Amino acid sequence: MVHKVQGVIVREKNAPATIETILVPEPGPGEALVDILTSGVCHTDLHYQQGGISDDFPFLLGHEATGIVNSVGPDVTEVKPGDRVILNWRAVCGECRACAKGQPQYCFNTHNATQKMTLEDGTELSPALGIGAFIEKTLVAAGQCTKVDDESDAAAIGLLGCGIMAGIGAAINTGEVKRGESVAVIGCGGVGIAAIQGSQLAGATTIIAVDIDQAKLDRALELGATHAVNSRNEDPVEAIRALTGGHGADVVIEAVGRPETYKQAFYARDLAGRVVLVGVPTPEMMLELPLLDIFGRGGSLKSSWYGDCLPSRDFPMLVEQYKLGRLNLDAFVSERIGLGDVEAAFAKMHAGTVLRSVVEL
Ligand code: APR
Ligand code: ZN
Ligand code: ZN
Repeated sequence: MVHKVQGVIVREKNAPATIETILVPEPGPGEALVDILTSGVCHTDLHYQQGGISDDFPFLLGHEATGIVNSVGPDVTEVKPGDRVILNWRAVCGECRACAKGQPQYCFNTHNATQKMTLEDGTELSPALGIGAFIEKTLVAAGQCTKVDDESDAAAIGLLGCGIMAGIGAAINTGEVKRGESVAVIGCGGVGIAAIQGSQLAGATTIIAVDIDQAKLDRALELGATHAVNSRNEDPVEAIRALTGGHGADVVIEAVGRPETYKQAFYARDLAGRVVLVGVPTPEMMLELPLLDIFGRGGSLKSSWYGDCLPSRDFPMLVEQYKLGRLNLDAFVSERIGLGDVEAAFAKMHAGTVLRSVVEL
Protein backbone atom coordinates (compact mmCIF):
# COMPACT_ATOMS: atom_id res chain seq x y z
CA MET A 1 0.00 0.00 0.00
CA VAL A 2 1.20 3.48 -0.84
CA HIS A 3 0.50 6.15 1.79
CA LYS A 4 -0.93 9.44 0.52
CA VAL A 5 0.10 12.22 2.92
CA GLN A 6 0.73 15.97 3.14
CA GLY A 7 4.28 17.31 3.15
CA VAL A 8 6.25 20.53 2.53
CA ILE A 9 8.38 20.74 -0.62
CA VAL A 10 10.38 23.28 -2.62
CA ARG A 11 10.03 22.74 -6.36
CA GLU A 12 12.91 24.86 -7.59
CA LYS A 13 15.57 27.29 -6.43
CA ASN A 14 14.07 30.04 -4.25
CA ALA A 15 10.52 28.82 -4.84
CA PRO A 16 8.32 29.07 -1.77
CA ALA A 17 7.86 26.05 0.50
CA THR A 18 4.39 24.64 -0.27
CA ILE A 19 2.22 21.82 1.04
CA GLU A 20 1.70 19.04 -1.50
CA THR A 21 0.28 15.54 -1.58
CA ILE A 22 3.11 13.01 -1.41
CA LEU A 23 3.14 9.28 -2.01
CA VAL A 24 5.17 7.28 0.50
CA PRO A 25 5.85 3.59 -0.20
CA GLU A 26 5.69 0.79 2.37
CA PRO A 27 9.10 0.21 3.96
CA GLY A 28 11.36 -2.18 2.08
CA PRO A 29 14.31 -4.16 3.46
CA GLY A 30 16.22 -2.13 6.04
CA GLU A 31 13.66 0.69 5.98
CA ALA A 32 11.22 2.16 8.48
CA LEU A 33 8.06 4.21 7.97
CA VAL A 34 7.77 6.83 10.72
CA ASP A 35 4.72 8.86 11.78
CA ILE A 36 6.27 12.28 12.40
CA LEU A 37 5.32 14.04 15.63
CA THR A 38 7.51 17.16 15.38
CA SER A 39 10.22 18.63 13.18
CA GLY A 40 12.29 21.74 13.93
CA VAL A 41 12.99 24.36 11.25
CA CYS A 42 16.77 24.50 10.68
CA HIS A 43 19.04 26.79 8.61
CA THR A 44 19.84 23.79 6.44
CA ASP A 45 16.21 23.61 5.26
CA LEU A 46 16.51 27.23 4.15
CA HIS A 47 19.81 26.45 2.41
CA TYR A 48 18.09 23.65 0.48
CA GLN A 49 15.44 26.13 -0.66
CA GLN A 50 18.15 28.54 -1.81
CA GLY A 51 19.93 25.83 -3.79
CA GLY A 52 22.99 26.09 -1.57
CA ILE A 53 23.28 22.37 -0.82
CA SER A 54 22.28 20.53 -3.99
CA ASP A 55 20.48 21.07 -7.30
CA ASP A 56 18.41 17.96 -6.85
CA PHE A 57 15.00 19.70 -6.72
CA PRO A 58 12.27 19.17 -5.67
CA PHE A 59 13.23 18.78 -2.02
CA LEU A 60 11.09 17.45 0.78
CA LEU A 61 12.13 19.70 3.67
CA GLY A 62 12.55 19.00 7.39
CA HIS A 63 15.10 16.82 9.15
CA GLU A 64 15.17 17.63 12.88
CA ALA A 65 12.47 15.27 13.97
CA THR A 66 10.84 12.83 16.33
CA GLY A 67 8.16 10.33 15.49
CA ILE A 68 6.70 6.92 16.17
CA VAL A 69 7.67 3.95 14.06
CA ASN A 70 4.61 2.97 12.04
CA SER A 71 5.98 -0.14 10.34
CA VAL A 72 9.30 -1.67 9.34
CA GLY A 73 10.47 -3.62 6.31
CA PRO A 74 12.12 -7.05 6.25
CA ASP A 75 15.40 -7.55 8.12
CA VAL A 76 14.95 -4.56 10.44
CA THR A 77 16.23 -5.19 13.96
CA GLU A 78 16.97 -1.63 15.13
CA VAL A 79 13.38 -0.57 15.87
CA LYS A 80 9.84 -1.92 15.90
CA PRO A 81 6.38 -0.41 15.34
CA GLY A 82 5.34 1.79 18.26
CA ASP A 83 8.88 2.87 19.20
CA ARG A 84 9.37 6.60 19.84
CA VAL A 85 12.43 7.66 17.86
CA ILE A 86 14.61 10.66 17.10
CA LEU A 87 15.70 10.68 13.45
CA ASN A 88 19.34 11.21 12.50
CA TRP A 89 21.23 11.89 9.32
CA ARG A 90 24.18 9.70 10.20
CA ALA A 91 23.18 6.05 10.15
CA VAL A 92 26.71 4.66 10.10
CA CYS A 93 27.50 1.86 7.66
CA GLY A 94 29.98 -0.01 9.87
CA GLU A 95 32.05 -0.97 6.83
CA CYS A 96 33.73 2.07 5.29
CA ARG A 97 37.30 3.14 6.05
CA ALA A 98 36.21 5.65 8.73
CA CYS A 99 34.03 3.04 10.45
CA ALA A 100 36.84 0.48 10.22
CA LYS A 101 39.22 2.97 11.86
CA GLY A 102 36.83 3.31 14.79
CA GLN A 103 35.76 6.82 13.71
CA PRO A 104 32.13 6.26 12.70
CA GLN A 105 31.44 9.96 13.21
CA TYR A 106 33.20 10.43 9.85
CA CYS A 107 31.32 7.58 8.12
CA PHE A 108 31.08 8.46 4.44
CA ASN A 109 28.55 5.80 3.52
CA THR A 110 25.67 6.67 5.83
CA HIS A 111 22.42 4.85 5.13
CA ASN A 112 19.17 6.37 3.82
CA ALA A 113 16.01 4.75 2.50
CA THR A 114 16.55 3.33 -0.99
CA GLN A 115 12.93 3.69 -2.17
CA LYS A 116 11.76 7.15 -3.20
CA MET A 117 8.88 9.27 -1.99
CA THR A 118 7.15 10.94 -4.95
CA LEU A 119 4.60 13.55 -5.98
CA GLU A 120 1.33 12.24 -7.41
CA ASP A 121 2.69 12.64 -10.97
CA GLY A 122 5.60 10.33 -10.13
CA THR A 123 8.26 13.04 -9.67
CA GLU A 124 10.84 11.71 -7.20
CA LEU A 125 11.59 13.88 -4.17
CA SER A 126 14.99 14.46 -2.54
CA PRO A 127 14.48 14.35 1.22
CA ALA A 128 16.49 16.97 3.14
CA LEU A 129 19.55 15.27 4.68
CA GLY A 130 18.08 11.93 3.66
CA ILE A 131 15.14 12.42 6.04
CA GLY A 132 12.37 14.79 4.85
CA ALA A 133 10.29 15.35 7.97
CA PHE A 134 7.82 18.18 7.27
CA ILE A 135 5.40 15.41 6.36
CA GLU A 136 2.90 13.19 8.14
CA LYS A 137 4.83 9.97 7.44
CA THR A 138 8.36 9.62 6.15
CA LEU A 139 10.47 6.73 4.90
CA VAL A 140 14.01 6.37 6.28
CA ALA A 141 16.69 3.74 6.77
CA ALA A 142 16.03 1.93 10.04
CA GLY A 143 19.48 3.01 11.24
CA GLN A 144 18.30 6.62 11.02
CA CYS A 145 15.95 5.90 13.92
CA THR A 146 17.23 6.04 17.49
CA LYS A 147 14.80 4.73 20.08
CA VAL A 148 14.30 7.02 23.08
CA ASP A 149 11.82 6.89 25.93
CA ASP A 150 8.34 8.15 25.16
CA GLU A 151 7.61 10.39 28.15
CA SER A 152 9.44 13.57 27.12
CA ASP A 153 8.04 16.44 25.08
CA ALA A 154 8.56 15.49 21.43
CA ALA A 155 9.17 19.06 20.25
CA ALA A 156 12.03 19.48 22.73
CA ILE A 157 13.85 16.18 22.29
CA GLY A 158 13.41 16.23 18.50
CA LEU A 159 15.81 19.16 18.37
CA LEU A 160 18.59 16.75 19.31
CA GLY A 161 18.29 15.45 15.74
CA CYS A 162 20.37 18.27 14.24
CA GLY A 163 21.34 21.81 15.31
CA ILE A 164 21.19 21.41 19.07
CA MET A 165 23.19 18.18 18.87
CA ALA A 166 25.74 20.04 16.73
CA GLY A 167 26.23 22.64 19.46
CA ILE A 168 26.21 20.29 22.44
CA GLY A 169 28.49 17.86 20.62
CA ALA A 170 30.93 20.65 19.69
CA ALA A 171 31.51 21.05 23.44
CA ILE A 172 31.28 17.50 24.79
CA ASN A 173 32.56 15.45 21.83
CA THR A 174 34.79 17.60 19.63
CA GLY A 175 36.04 20.02 22.28
CA GLU A 176 36.11 17.39 25.04
CA VAL A 177 35.35 20.09 27.59
CA LYS A 178 36.31 18.92 31.08
CA ARG A 179 35.13 19.93 34.52
CA GLY A 180 36.66 23.17 35.74
CA GLU A 181 37.69 24.35 32.28
CA SER A 182 37.01 27.73 30.69
CA VAL A 183 35.06 27.87 27.44
CA ALA A 184 34.32 30.82 25.16
CA VAL A 185 31.46 30.48 22.68
CA ILE A 186 31.47 32.95 19.79
CA GLY A 187 27.98 33.35 18.29
CA CYS A 188 24.95 32.70 20.49
CA GLY A 189 22.24 31.53 18.11
CA GLY A 190 20.70 28.09 18.61
CA VAL A 191 23.99 26.29 17.97
CA GLY A 192 26.02 28.57 20.25
CA ILE A 193 23.48 28.35 23.09
CA ALA A 194 23.55 24.57 22.74
CA ALA A 195 27.36 24.70 22.99
CA ILE A 196 26.96 26.72 26.18
CA GLN A 197 24.60 24.11 27.61
CA GLY A 198 26.97 21.32 26.55
CA SER A 199 29.85 23.10 28.28
CA GLN A 200 27.77 23.43 31.43
CA LEU A 201 26.84 19.75 31.26
CA ALA A 202 30.53 18.87 30.97
CA GLY A 203 31.33 20.89 34.10
CA ALA A 204 33.01 23.99 32.68
CA THR A 205 33.17 26.69 35.33
CA THR A 206 33.82 29.75 33.16
CA ILE A 207 31.56 29.99 30.10
CA ILE A 208 31.97 33.20 28.13
CA ALA A 209 29.29 34.09 25.59
CA VAL A 210 30.32 36.37 22.71
CA ASP A 211 27.89 37.97 20.27
CA ILE A 212 27.22 41.29 18.54
CA ASP A 213 23.58 41.24 19.60
CA GLN A 214 22.86 42.16 23.24
CA ALA A 215 19.54 40.29 23.28
CA LYS A 216 21.39 37.08 22.36
CA LEU A 217 23.87 37.70 25.17
CA ASP A 218 21.12 38.30 27.73
CA ARG A 219 19.57 34.98 26.76
CA ALA A 220 22.96 33.25 26.89
CA LEU A 221 23.38 34.43 30.49
CA GLU A 222 19.98 32.99 31.36
CA LEU A 223 20.87 29.66 29.77
CA GLY A 224 24.26 28.90 31.29
CA ALA A 225 26.88 31.49 30.33
CA THR A 226 28.78 32.94 33.28
CA HIS A 227 30.02 36.02 31.38
CA ALA A 228 28.95 37.91 28.27
CA VAL A 229 31.08 39.91 25.84
CA ASN A 230 29.46 42.20 23.29
CA SER A 231 31.97 42.19 20.45
CA ARG A 232 30.32 45.22 18.90
CA ASN A 233 31.60 47.24 21.84
CA GLU A 234 34.83 45.54 22.88
CA ASP A 235 37.60 43.38 21.45
CA PRO A 236 36.46 39.83 22.23
CA VAL A 237 39.98 38.39 22.27
CA GLU A 238 41.15 40.83 24.93
CA ALA A 239 37.92 40.40 26.89
CA ILE A 240 38.21 36.59 26.88
CA ARG A 241 41.84 36.80 27.98
CA ALA A 242 40.92 39.22 30.77
CA LEU A 243 38.21 36.85 32.01
CA THR A 244 40.61 33.88 32.05
CA GLY A 245 43.48 35.31 34.08
CA GLY A 246 45.16 36.76 31.01
CA HIS A 247 45.56 33.37 29.32
CA GLY A 248 42.71 32.71 26.93
CA ALA A 249 40.08 29.98 27.15
CA ASP A 250 40.83 26.26 27.38
CA VAL A 251 38.27 25.72 24.62
CA VAL A 252 36.91 28.27 22.13
CA ILE A 253 33.85 27.28 20.11
CA GLU A 254 33.10 29.27 16.96
CA ALA A 255 29.38 29.12 16.08
CA VAL A 256 29.06 31.87 13.48
CA GLY A 257 30.98 30.75 10.37
CA ARG A 258 32.80 33.95 9.35
CA PRO A 259 36.51 34.74 8.83
CA GLU A 260 36.67 37.40 11.56
CA THR A 261 35.13 35.12 14.15
CA TYR A 262 37.32 32.17 13.10
CA LYS A 263 40.25 34.49 13.70
CA GLN A 264 38.93 35.60 17.09
CA ALA A 265 38.44 31.97 18.11
CA PHE A 266 41.96 31.19 17.07
CA TYR A 267 43.54 34.00 19.11
CA ALA A 268 41.27 33.65 22.14
CA ARG A 269 42.55 30.15 22.97
CA ASP A 270 44.97 29.55 25.82
CA LEU A 271 48.41 28.18 25.00
CA ALA A 272 47.64 24.60 23.93
CA GLY A 273 43.92 25.45 23.94
CA ARG A 274 41.41 23.76 21.67
CA VAL A 275 39.54 25.64 18.94
CA VAL A 276 36.32 24.03 17.75
CA LEU A 277 34.79 25.28 14.51
CA VAL A 278 31.08 24.53 14.24
CA GLY A 279 29.96 27.62 12.26
CA VAL A 280 29.79 26.77 8.56
CA PRO A 281 31.55 29.26 6.22
CA THR A 282 30.65 29.85 2.55
CA PRO A 283 32.97 28.70 -0.26
CA GLU A 284 34.47 32.12 -1.02
CA MET A 285 35.55 32.93 2.56
CA MET A 286 39.32 33.13 3.16
CA LEU A 287 41.48 33.71 6.22
CA GLU A 288 45.14 34.73 6.33
CA LEU A 289 47.12 34.09 9.51
CA PRO A 290 50.79 34.38 10.49
CA LEU A 291 52.17 30.82 10.61
CA LEU A 292 54.08 31.63 13.75
CA ASP A 293 50.80 32.30 15.56
CA ILE A 294 49.56 28.87 14.56
CA PHE A 295 52.81 27.21 15.55
CA GLY A 296 53.58 29.26 18.61
CA ARG A 297 50.36 28.83 20.56
CA GLY A 298 50.13 25.07 20.20
CA GLY A 299 46.84 23.30 20.85
CA SER A 300 44.42 22.08 18.27
CA LEU A 301 42.01 23.30 15.65
CA LYS A 302 39.11 20.96 14.95
CA SER A 303 35.98 21.31 12.90
CA SER A 304 32.85 19.73 14.27
CA TRP A 305 30.33 18.19 11.92
CA TYR A 306 27.01 17.20 13.56
CA GLY A 307 28.81 17.60 16.88
CA ASP A 308 30.82 14.43 16.16
CA CYS A 309 27.79 12.66 17.52
CA LEU A 310 26.91 9.00 17.49
CA PRO A 311 23.12 9.06 17.65
CA SER A 312 22.72 5.71 19.41
CA ARG A 313 25.17 6.83 22.10
CA ASP A 314 24.31 10.51 22.42
CA PHE A 315 20.55 10.89 21.86
CA PRO A 316 19.36 8.64 24.72
CA MET A 317 22.04 10.09 27.03
CA LEU A 318 20.94 13.66 26.30
CA VAL A 319 17.26 12.80 26.70
CA GLU A 320 18.18 11.49 30.18
CA GLN A 321 20.04 14.72 30.97
CA TYR A 322 16.95 16.63 29.85
CA LYS A 323 14.70 14.53 32.10
CA LEU A 324 17.04 15.16 35.03
CA GLY A 325 16.73 18.90 34.43
CA ARG A 326 20.39 19.36 33.51
CA LEU A 327 19.75 20.25 29.89
CA ASN A 328 17.15 22.88 29.12
CA LEU A 329 15.83 21.79 25.73
CA ASP A 330 12.51 23.57 26.36
CA ALA A 331 14.31 26.90 26.05
CA PHE A 332 15.02 26.19 22.38
CA VAL A 333 11.36 25.71 21.43
CA SER A 334 10.38 29.29 20.56
CA GLU A 335 7.09 28.45 18.86
CA ARG A 336 4.99 25.49 17.75
CA ILE A 337 3.65 25.81 14.22
CA GLY A 338 1.81 23.87 11.52
CA LEU A 339 2.98 22.56 8.14
CA GLY A 340 1.65 25.71 6.48
CA ASP A 341 3.89 28.02 8.53
CA VAL A 342 7.34 26.90 7.33
CA GLU A 343 7.85 29.88 5.03
CA ALA A 344 6.97 32.31 7.86
CA ALA A 345 9.36 30.40 10.15
CA PHE A 346 12.18 30.93 7.64
CA ALA A 347 11.56 34.68 7.84
CA LYS A 348 11.71 34.62 11.65
CA MET A 349 14.89 32.56 11.56
CA HIS A 350 16.42 35.05 9.15
CA ALA A 351 15.43 37.95 11.41
CA GLY A 352 16.94 36.11 14.39
CA THR A 353 13.77 36.38 16.47
CA VAL A 354 13.45 32.64 17.24
CA LEU A 355 15.81 29.92 18.45
CA ARG A 356 13.70 27.19 16.90
CA SER A 357 10.25 27.05 15.31
CA VAL A 358 8.95 23.50 15.62
CA VAL A 359 6.39 22.02 13.25
CA GLU A 360 3.89 19.80 15.07
CA LEU A 361 1.95 17.24 13.08
N1 APR B 1 30.52 38.12 16.07
C1 APR B 1 29.82 37.48 17.03
N2 APR B 1 28.59 36.95 16.81
C2 APR B 1 28.06 37.10 15.59
C3 APR B 1 28.75 37.75 14.54
C4 APR B 1 30.04 38.29 14.81
N3 APR B 1 30.75 38.91 13.89
N4 APR B 1 27.96 37.73 13.43
C5 APR B 1 26.83 37.08 13.79
N5 APR B 1 26.89 36.72 15.09
C6 APR B 1 25.89 36.01 15.89
C7 APR B 1 24.46 36.39 15.60
O1 APR B 1 24.08 37.58 16.30
C8 APR B 1 23.70 35.17 16.10
O2 APR B 1 23.37 35.27 17.47
O3 APR B 1 25.97 34.64 15.60
C9 APR B 1 24.71 34.03 15.90
C10 APR B 1 24.35 33.09 14.75
O4 APR B 1 23.19 32.44 15.13
P1 APR B 1 22.11 31.89 14.11
O5 APR B 1 22.07 32.71 12.89
O6 APR B 1 20.87 31.66 14.89
O7 APR B 1 22.72 30.47 13.64
P2 APR B 1 22.80 29.07 14.37
O8 APR B 1 21.61 28.25 14.04
O9 APR B 1 23.14 29.22 15.81
O10 APR B 1 24.05 28.44 13.58
C11 APR B 1 25.32 29.04 13.68
O11 APR B 1 26.49 27.04 13.11
O12 APR B 1 25.88 24.95 12.36
C12 APR B 1 26.28 26.22 12.00
O13 APR B 1 25.29 26.50 9.83
C13 APR B 1 25.29 26.95 11.16
O14 APR B 1 26.97 28.47 10.48
C14 APR B 1 25.82 28.33 11.30
C15 APR B 1 26.29 28.38 12.74
ZN1 ZN C 1 30.90 3.91 7.54
ZN1 ZN D 1 19.69 20.90 10.60
